[in-house]
Amino acid sequence: MHYIPVIALLLPLLAHAADGQSIMQKGGANPAALPCISCHGTDGKGLAAAGFPRLAGLPEAYIGKQLADLKAGRRENPVMQPIAQSLSDEEMAAVAKAYAELPKVNVKAGPLERPQPGSGAWLALRGAWERNIPECTLCHGPAGVGVGTAFPPLAGQSALYIENQLLAWRGSTARPATRHSKAVAAVPPSRRNDPNGLMQHIAADLSAAEIKRVAEYFAGLGESQEAFDESQHRLR
Ligand code: HEC
Ligand code: HEC
Repeated sequence: MHYIPVIALLLPLLAHAADGQSIMQKGGANPAALPCISCHGTDGKGLAAAGFPRLAGLPEAYIGKQLADLKAGRRENPVMQPIAQSLSDEEMAAVAKAYAELPKVNVKAGPLERPQPGSGAWLALRGAWERNIPECTLCHGPAGVGVGTAFPPLAGQSALYIENQLLAWRGSTARPATRHSKAVAAVPPSRRNDPNGLMQHIAADLSAAEIKRVAEYFAGLGESQEAFDESQHRLR
């Protein structure tokens, strides 16, 4: 009988295993790893008005990648970066798993209106191929529910969060300090973590007004109060 010594060896490991639920509620072992729920909401659906994203139901590998990217500085953000830097790799894996297990976005069903040229819906569903901009749903799935682990859902995220991400990939031009000042400093992209620059190329060719319109379109697709429709997520 040799299983007893094996269990005895494993017990201390289990006792120290990072607990995703506990990190969400109470934060990580390092006090700088603040409780996730204080910004991402007790239900993990984020806080739209503040630009805090939904984490509930995002793919585990995607969440893990973002935390690693924030920690490594490939994705910069003054609020979230210090938190990611305070999580151990084990804690990141545990909290990513816990958030992935929460309910996915329930996209509004039913026929959508026919998109008008130049509208947010048009960009989302048809793109602007004359400028080499593919439709967003090509990669992010029908109704922006996400595809696999690399293409995150856009439905369920707030307009402010989506807009912030597109501007982060694009970089922007700071406004002059005063009406008379001519100093206009270019802000370099602060999110540089997209495989093959897929998002950076797209964001660079979108105007600020287009970014706003397409962000509002996707923000308008979730969260439906109707019964959850699993078929939306069949591609995953
Ligand atoms: C003080 C507020 C705050 C707390 C606490 C917080 N976050 Fe965040 N988090 C943010 C903000 C703000 C962003 C968006 C950053 C940006 O715009 O790029 C974010 C983004 C993220 C993202 C990227 C999501 C995506 O769709 O790409 C992940 C993953 C994440 N947070 C995980 C966590 C985890 C795990 C915890 C708990 C250990 C946590 N956050 C605690 C504010 C917070
Ligand atoms: C060629 C494929 C492709 C197309 C087309 C595409 N995306 Fe993406 N998008 C990606 C990938 C890949 C990521 C994840 C990058 C990463 O790992 O951080 C992403 C991430 C995003 C995110 C960040 C989501 C989050 O949770 O942080 C936003 C916002 C976004 N895309 C918006 C758009 C919009 C709007 C369009 C259409 C104008 C679009 N995308 C078209 C590939 C694509």
